[in-house]
Amino acid sequence: MRKKVWWIVIGVAVGSLALLTACQGTAGTAGPAGAPGKDADMTEVNKAIDARFTTVDRKLPLWAIQPGTAPRMIELTLYFNNMWFGAQAGNWDLARFEAYRSEETVKGIYVTRPAREAVLKAWADPNLAALIKAIEAKDKAAFEKAYDTAIAGCNGCHAGSEGGPLKSMGAFKITRPTTPLFSNIDYSGK
Ligand code: HEC
Repeated sequence: MRKKVWWIVIGVAVGSLALLTACQGTAGTAGPAGAPGKDADMTEVNKAIDARFTTVDRKLPLWAIQPGTAPRMIELTLYFNNMWFGAQAGNWDLARFEAYRSEETVKGIYVTRPAREAVLKAWADPNLAALIKAIEAKDKAAFEKAYDTAIAGCNGCHAGSEGGPLKSMGAFKITRPTTPLFSNIDYSGK
């Protein structure tokens, strides 16, 4: 009985050693001095992984949990609210930041909803550029004009876009804001 136990112990030890040696062997060939065949295999594996991470596939959990259009639109609504009150208070830095955030948020939609990119870009590129130009010039009249044009674009796109259960997003009519979203921001920045 005791002899049998010893044989098992020796067997496990030899097995572990063999496994360890095999692993070290693999690690060695995967390094810069490794066989070229193995390196080429790794390049293929890396390419395949990159392709999975850069191509939207909403069946994959990591893609499925990324914000699509609607959550980004809520962000855009928030940035447009802050931008307005910043500009009204003459806080052009605040307004400039919100225009930058708007640019970043639409870029997120290009990634997760590529089918929406062309139409959204046609709105974002000229309208955000016009807002940034007016903000950097600290020109309130030009800002208000660019703002009204931009929100007319929000509404134009909504009227012609489907969303979730809706054939038209015309239900979401965007206007100049009358109330700041945050009571804990001093829009004057002073
Ligand atoms: C290029 C088209 C397009 C433009 C431009 C656009 N939207 Fe949208 N918006 C959509 C679509 C499409 C949806 C529905 C998205 C969905 O179903 O996921 C939407 C949804 C919304 C919603 C509802 C979100 C929710 O979850 O309740 C709001 C609010 C909104 N947009 C605000 C805006 C504002 C503010 C602007 C401009 C500053 C704007 N949108 C510009 C296409 C657009």
